[in-house]
Amino acid sequence: MTDCIRFILNGKDVALRDVDPTATLLDFLRLDRRLTGTKEGCAEGDCGACTVLVGRLRDGGLRYETVNACIRFMGSLHATHVVTVEHLAAHDGTLHPVQQAMVDCHGSQCGFCTPGFVMSLYGLWLSNENPSRAEIEKALQGNLCRCTGYEPIVKAAELVSRTRPSALFDPLERDRTAISAKLWELKTGETIVIEKAGRRLIVPGTVAALADVLAAEPSATVVAGATDVGLWVTKQMRDLDPVVFINHLDELQAIETGPDGITLGAGVTYEHASARLRAEIPAIGRLIDRIGGQQVRNVGTIGGNIANGSPIGDMPPALIALGATITLRSASGKRVRPLEDYFIAYGKQDRRPGEFVESIFVPRPRDDQHFAVYKVSKRRDEDISALCGAFLLTRDEDKVSDIRIAFGGMAATPKRATAVEAALRGKPWTEATITAARPAFDDDYTPLTDWRASAEYRQLAAKNLLTRFFLEASGTPQELKRFAEEEA
Ligand SMILES: Cc1cc2nc3c(=O)[nH]c(=O)nc-3n(C[C@H](O)[C@H](O)[C@H](O)COP(=O)(O)OP(=O)(O)OC[C@H]3O[C@@H](n4cnc5c(N)ncnc54)[C@H](O)[C@@H]3O)c2cc1C
Ligand code: FES
Ligand code: FES
Repeated sequence: MTDCIRFILNGKDVALRDVDPTATLLDFLRLDRRLTGTKEGCAEGDCGACTVLVGRLRDGGLRYETVNACIRFMGSLHATHVVTVEHLAAHDGTLHPVQQAMVDCHGSQCGFCTPGFVMSLYGLWLSNENPSRAEIEKALQGNLCRCTGYEPIVKAAELVSRTRPSALFDPLERDRTAISAKLWELKTGETIVIEKAGRRLIVPGTVAALADVLAAEPSATVVAGATDVGLWVTKQMRDLDPVVFINHLDELQAIETGPDGITLGAGVTYEHASARLRAEIPAIGRLIDRIGGQQVRNVGTIGGNIANGSPIGDMPPALIALGATITLRSASGKRVRPLEDYFIAYGKQDRRPGEFVESIFVPRPRDDQHFAVYKVSKRRDEDISALCGAFLLTRDEDKVSDIRIAFGGMAATPKRATAVEAALRGKPWTEATITAARPAFDDDYTPLTDWRASAEYRQLAAKNLLTRFFLEASGTPQELKRFAEEEA
């Protein structure tokens, strides 16, 4: 056991013993280290002005990802390398090619968003030597600019992808071996406990230690990517105690492919899961592209999306339709539950004191099944769903032998449309059947009106999504394959 968080900030080692459990990286950078290049815009993970890179060891290598410093807690930084915009230029002031491209393409006016854009472009530059226009736009989904319009910034990304003077020019490529070695030294697997002003921050060294901590502290707040919990602090000003960090636990980050599906550790992030899920269940890959911005996908976990119990989380409807199960673990053992049974009522989940989500099993649709998920939101990028519907159809010739439908945004929890399913099961897969089944949505759901959509809109959109699914799923297997490829 230790009482110290250690990490590397740009080129310097940092060791902290005096850390509040909900202190943010943004405040540390700006107020403590006076690294004011990293800006605060929204303080809720939306605008990207606070973007920095965080490097961590994963799958045996050192991997840098863009994150929002405003909702990243200090307790999640042990054994990482934090890189801010100040680290990019050479010691003689020569700009990094990413910065120079922003100058050359006139990518900045008032400049407030610019450091965040530079860091997102830098993250892309490090990981992709020849990004397509779509990949550039995806990397910038989580950055907002009020001044320039995005075209000059996209042009800067295109220009800089062709500019790679030498590996030694780039500070991260130059120091990669030394930084990796240092991070391996810091990754001791020890549990960290820090108390400040009567509140505690706990970083368990192993999953077994996490189970013991939660057995002793069942009301502790578990923090994975903090893309939900961060806002409880920065927007709702909540005091949390104790806070238990799990994002570093390798045992929660395994992805295993079996004959029937994929098992995702609860700590697997959207970004980490996306390639595998895209290959196995393309519709889920496309859904992930519409969750948050890149900074959110880099740290936000599928386990967190489930555990928070939100009625408008995007993954639960898709996973429920697929028949996913979750494994809950505590110091006294494990239990496996169908995911749909985990959501009991608004704010109430089937999670016993001391339990945490350990993994999620996602069945792979069979060849005789057709699966689709549709997210409806006001903006295409970085927006929360008004509703999100998922459909898994099993056909026997032209009949519906089975169908599973689940929606988010239509009830107090993510919920199956059992009346609609019953109206379809055993019937011919025809437009007449669909038309007859549409009114059953009124039996399944009584949605709310809020700022995202009215109740009437939600109900009508849900019915129309069933019709869309029918039209899409009515083709031959070849047509369906082509459609899926075109969508991808
Ligand atoms: C800008 C922005 C955009 C977003 N866009 C979307 C979107 O498009 N769609 C969407 O669905 N969500 C969105 N979100 C919400 C959020 O990103 C997701 O819900 C995310 O999956 C949460 O994961 P996390 O690891 O960050 O969870 P955290 O914030 O760390 O935790 C969330 C909750 O889960 C609990 N928890 C986490 N892991 C475990 C575990 N293993 N066991 C038990 N409890 C656990 C925590 O205690 C907390 O109650 C967005 C958030 C932001 C800030
Ligand atoms: S300040 Fe807006 S994303 Fe962090
Ligand atoms: S340059 Fe002004 S907000 Fe982007």
